[in-house]
Amino acid sequence: MSPLLLVLLGLLVLVLLRGRTRRVGEPPLITGWIPYLGKALEFRKDAHAFLEEQRRRHGDVFTVYIKGNYMTFIMNPLMYPNIIKHGRQLDFHKFTNVVAPYTFGYPPVDDVRFPGLGDKISSSFHLLQGSNLTLLTESMMANLMAVFRQDYLNEASDHWRTGLAYDFCTSVMFEATFLTMYGRPPSGWRHPGMGPMKDDFLRFDTMFPLLIAQTPLWLLGNTEATRLKLINHFLPQKMSQWSNRSKFIQQRAETFDQYDTLKDMDKAAHHFAILWAAVGNTAPATFWSMYYLMSHPEALQTVRQEIQDVLNQSGVQICCDRDIVLSRDQLDRLLYLESAINESLRLSTASMNIRVVEEDFHLRLDSERSVAVRKGDIIALYPQSVHMDPEVYEDPQSFRFDRFLVDGRERTDFYKDGQRLKFYLMPFGSGSTMCPGRHFAINEIKQFLCLLLVYFDLDLDHQQRTTLDCSRAGLGILQPTKDVHFRYRLRTATDHHSPPQTTTD
Ligand code: HEM
Ligand SMILES: *[C@@H]1O[C@H](CO)[C@@H](O)[C@H](O)[C@H]1NC(C)=O
Ligand SMILES: *[C@@H]1O[C@H](CO)[C@@H](O)[C@H](O)[C@H]1NC(C)=O
Ligand SMILES: *[C@@H]1O[C@H](CO)[C@@H](O)[C@H](O)[C@H]1NC(C)=O
Ligand SMILES: *[C@@H]1O[C@H](CO)[C@@H](O)[C@H](O)[C@H]1NC(C)=O
Repeated sequence: MSPLLLVLLGLLVLVLLRGRTRRVGEPPLITGWIPYLGKALEFRKDAHAFLEEQRRRHGDVFTVYIKGNYMTFIMNPLMYPNIIKHGRQLDFHKFTNVVAPYTFGYPPVDDVRFPGLGDKISSSFHLLQGSNLTLLTESMMANLMAVFRQDYLNEASDHWRTGLAYDFCTSVMFEATFLTMYGRPPSGWRHPGMGPMKDDFLRFDTMFPLLIAQTPLWLLGNTEATRLKLINHFLPQKMSQWSNRSKFIQQRAETFDQYDTLKDMDKAAHHFAILWAAVGNTAPATFWSMYYLMSHPEALQTVRQEIQDVLNQSGVQICCDRDIVLSRDQLDRLLYLESAINESLRLSTASMNIRVVEEDFHLRLDSERSVAVRKGDIIALYPQSVHMDPEVYEDPQSFRFDRFLVDGRERTDFYKDGQRLKFYLMPFGSGSTMCPGRHFAINEIKQFLCLLLVYFDLDLDHQQRTTLDCSRAGLGILQPTKDVHFRYRLRTATDHHSPPQTTTD
């Protein structure tokens, strides 16, 4: 080949690799020098730090090239309302219609073979909310109580026992949620093999970030086999033997049965996806709430007192052989507990809200500014940057259990640049794609903590600390880098009436 041709070819390659250039009206473009990957590695290493650095350099709005996508980040929460209200040009479901089927192994919902399926699935979400939530919450209460009673309240003695906090939360929440959603087996009330199933679930969950990134399955070891095992639990012939399933799952099962084009494995994969949605974030969220309360004895004391007061007002006598039932109404009154949970969510969530641009247009940011965006680009909100902004939340790294309360009521005024924020706490996403299970999630975490605090003295060894594992940034509640040991013992009947005592010092 002649030297001239080589030079020309080289130039051509360079031009191709450079990708696109910034057009007038578009945000600053950050591409990096690695073809295709762009800034993916830096983003994955520490998304929060990376985005803050770009914000310092380029301002509130910039476009980053990550793994073949142009992602425009909106970093100013005062601009959030404008982004969130865009329904037409910014479609979320394009994204879920590709990534979720790949991850959980069902055919794309918007395929022509399944007319109307997507809408029917969306309308099933009503059954997690509003008045429909009452039954679900009652069922969860009974199942949590049953699991606690069988596994943890069965010893009469009040000696100290030790456990691993994350393991404890995951086991209890996994089984109680499973029973509440999918119902009970034909005999007995516990499904056999819950432990191994939970372990498979966690194995699958470890690979979740790679699946979401659409990594080829053959690169992921046993993941496909593990997923298949999990999906097999939900085959119609198995599920039909279970009783007392939730209306939510019931209605979805009936919907799937209307489609001859859906194979049994496809239906099962949909049910499995819901299990992941219901437990994948809730288990770590429960852990962080428990962990932060245990490491802040004064917070734990206040929250426990609040729970006891609410129970006392309803004339509930707390003793070990009687089940505790907290109605939805009672749960709503536990504001210190709710604030502590929200504060734990603020600290531990790192989800990214994503919309895909449907056509070239000018995205309005605030009253003065708009930016040009192109069809196929992604608009992303990264709420962690708000949650960790010292201007919005004083001393944002620290856990303040009553941060979301003022004068005994919920606090809703948080500010940036002197302006009140409409969106300041976003663990559940935003706008039309907000998590439909959010109220159920908060209620079940409350129920779990009520049982834990009412029945047990808790003690987190002071040397035992863990931190957030940032490798899942962008995908929801972060997991702990390591599990922590804790001690627990049955509270004696007198503890419930006398002022609460902490055992942590
Ligand atoms: C602390 C616990 C939870 C957190 C932090 C959480 C968070 C989220 C987030 C961030 C989304 C995506 C929304 C968006 O991108 O705009 C989502 C979607 C979803 N969540 Fe949750 N979630 C939790 C618990 C639950 C529970 C308990 C259920 C069900 C019982 C559930 C069911 C769903 C479903 C079905 C979707 C998909 C909605 C759709 O396709 O439009 N989630 N969740
Ligand atoms: C309860 O679910 C049904 C069925 O999906 C729905 O029609 C109804 O609107 C829901 N109720 C509320 C309060 O969300
Ligand atoms: C199962 O459901 C029936 C009616 O739907 C109800 O009467 C019964 O109490 C439920 N059983 C359990 C164990 O939840
Ligand atoms: C409620 O609290 C009061 C005063 O602290 C106590 O005398 C009473 O026994 C409690 N009631 C119940 C049902 O625990
Ligand atoms: C906690 O957050 C949820 C939703 O994220 C909200 O509905 C609720 O009002 C908040 N409660 C408090 C006390 O901050």
